[in-house]
Amino acid sequence: MRLTDAERAMLDGREGAAKQKAMDLLMRYGEALGAERLVETQNVAGAFNASTPSVRALVAKGYDAVYSELNLDSREVVPIPKMAVNTCQLITGIDNENWRTQGIADELADQQKKAEGHFGALGINMFATCTPYQVGNVPVRGEHCAWMESSAVVYCNSVLGARTNTEGKESTGAAALTGRIPYWGFHIPENRRGTHLVNVDVEVDDIMDWGLLGYWLGEIVQEDIPVLTGKIRQPSLIKLKHFGAAAASSGGVEMYHIPGVTPEANSVDEAFGGRKRQDTLRFGAAERKLAYDTLNCATDRNVDFVMLGCPHNAIEQVWLIASMLEGRKISPNTQLWVHTPRALREVAERNGYVKMIRDAGGMVMSDTCPAISRHVPKGTRVIATDSAKQAHYLPAIVGLPVWFGSVKDCVEAAISGRWNGGLQ
Ligand code: F3S
Repeated sequence: MRLTDAERAMLDGREGAAKQKAMDLLMRYGEALGAERLVETQNVAGAFNASTPSVRALVAKGYDAVYSELNLDSREVVPIPKMAVNTCQLITGIDNENWRTQGIADELADQQKKAEGHFGALGINMFATCTPYQVGNVPVRGEHCAWMESSAVVYCNSVLGARTNTEGKESTGAAALTGRIPYWGFHIPENRRGTHLVNVDVEVDDIMDWGLLGYWLGEIVQEDIPVLTGKIRQPSLIKLKHFGAAAASSGGVEMYHIPGVTPEANSVDEAFGGRKRQDTLRFGAAERKLAYDTLNCATDRNVDFVMLGCPHNAIEQVWLIASMLEGRKISPNTQLWVHTPRALREVAERNGYVKMIRDAGGMVMSDTCPAISRHVPKGTRVIATDSAKQAHYLPAIVGLPVWFGSVKDCVEAAISGRWNGGLQ
C-alpha cells in the first residue's frame, strides 16, 4: 500500500508504540483486502469495553492490555494514548443501571463501569448504543467513517450518505488511534451504486411493514445494493432504522437507495449510476406474508417476555409505548423491556416516560439488548418483539421461539400475556 509521510512516521514508531501497532494492523488488513491506500477518517464507532467474564484476566493486567489485545490484536502490551479522532462506543453487554434485572453479577457490572471510566477519559464517547446517529454522532454526506454494527453501517451509508464498511473491534481500535482506515469497499464511489431494482407493490408504511420489506429483501440480495421504488410512503429515521437493520440481518445489506429520499439517488438512473442492473424484484402481498411467517417461529401464544427497541428506540418511540401503557398494567406473567440509548433514557426519565412504563410494570433499559448481552428474563419461554432483527437472532442466540409484530401487538401481548398479533 502507498503511505503518506505521516502514515509512514506512525508505522516507523515515531509517534509511539500504540500507533505503530495500529498502523501495522491497518497495513496488513488493507493488503488482505487489496486496498492501495488508506483514507483519513475523523469518525470511529467501535467496541472498547470489558463487559464479559472472559476478559477478566486481561482486565487484571490493566486497560492497556485490554486495548492492546482486543482493539489492536497485540499480545504485547503497549501504552494507549488518547484517541486521535472522534470516537464512540457502540452497544455493550451490560446495562449500567439495570444489570441486576438482566441477571448479571455485580462484580461484572463493576468491571464494565470501571473500564468505561478509563476509556471515556481517553476520549471514547460512551454513547453505549447501536444507534450513535440518534444521540449526536451524525456524519455528513461523503464523510469517511470507520463504524462497526451492521444496522448503524447501513444507516450511515444509505441515509446519511457517509462512507463506511462494516469494521471490526481491531480495525476501529486502530482507526481511533491513527485516524486512518483502508480505502476500499463503500469508501469508493463506484462501489456505492445500485445493483437490483425493487418494485414495491404493496403499501409499505409503518415500522412493521418496513421490517418485513427489509427482511425479505436482505435474504434475496445478500450483500448487493437494492434500489427501491413503488408504493413506499414517506419514511422516517425510525422506519429506515428498522428497514436497514432487518436487511442487514437476513442478508448483509450495507447500502440501499430510495430515489427521492436517500442522498445519493435523486432518480433511479442516478441510483444505478450506469452500473448494469443484475435483477428486478417485486415485493407484493405474498412476499410480505413469507417474511412475516419466517419471522414468527413461535406456536405457544403465552408470552413471557416482550422486547421493544432493536435498534435502540428513538425518544418518540419511548413516548408512544409509554402512552399505550398509561393507566394499564402488564400481565404478572410477562416482563417488558423497552430499550433506548442512555442519553435518551435520561430525557425519557425527565419527561416522565420512564415512570409511566415502570408504573405499568415495564422497564426502560439502556446500553445493551438481549441479542448482544445474551440475557433474557429468567424463566422466559416465549418472546415477542417489534424488531425483525431481534426476531431473527434471538432463536439462535437464546434458543427461544419469537413472535414478531407491530408495537401495538407487542404492547397488547405484554398486557394480556398472550400473543394476538397478526398480519393485516
Ligand atoms: Fe442494536 Fe442489539 Fe438490535 S445491537 S440493532 S438492539 S440486536
